Amino acid sequence: MKKSIIPHIYNVSIHDRRKANKHNSFLLWFTGLSGSGKSTIANIVEQQLLRRGIKTYALDGDNVRKGINNDLTFSPEDRTENIRRIAETANLMIDAGLVVLAAFVSPYKKDRDNIKKIVKDINFVEIYINTSIEECELRDVKGLYKRARAGEIKNMTGISAPYEAPRNPNIEIKTEEESVEESVKKVIEYITPKLKLNYE
Ligand code: ADX
Repeated sequence: MKKSIIPHIYNVSIHDRRKANKHNSFLLWFTGLSGSGKSTIANIVEQQLLRRGIKTYALDGDNVRKGINNDLTFSPEDRTENIRRIAETANLMIDAGLVVLAAFVSPYKKDRDNIKKIVKDINFVEIYINTSIEECELRDVKGLYKRARAGEIKNMTGISAPYEAPRNPNIEIKTEEESVEESVKKVIEYITPKLKLNYE
């Protein structure tokens, strides 16, 4: 931190906000190829949390890149900056007392390690949506793979840019073997103790 910047200490702390909300706050980070099912699963998890009275917010690649990150491309450097800004944003939301769901391709291990540093290990749950490139290409919901194969899109993850799969994620979901319902249940079961309902 720059020496001339001295953080102001506010009287309301993260602990106070969590206590008022009656639950813990942390980040659920969904990583995987485009079309792997990250947003689909994050979306239903968020709905279920909301029904249980949990305060949430969802950040998603396609939305964030239309707003705060609309100056960034898909070059390795810009992806790093994309993930850094999202991690900082998520960190503020954790401080605000929310359970944050973030669905981003986030193909580089070093960028995902950096998220952990920014929000702190204890607030980070890494969820690997493991869908093969063959299956994603077959689904091709947005038609991006077809365009990448035709050479219209450069740096397409899985085609002309790498995806470094997490080696030790907190949760791994194989969407070719598990249903959406099963996947959502797996996430909810993992995070339930972490929610610390009736946070004191
Ligand atoms: S990340 O690599 O920087 O984490 P992010 O999750 O924000 O990517 O954005 C990925 C979304 O952008 C994909 O779901 C897809 O719809 C779209 N997209 C467009 N071009 C590319 C590309 N070259 N590689 C990956 N996704 C792309």
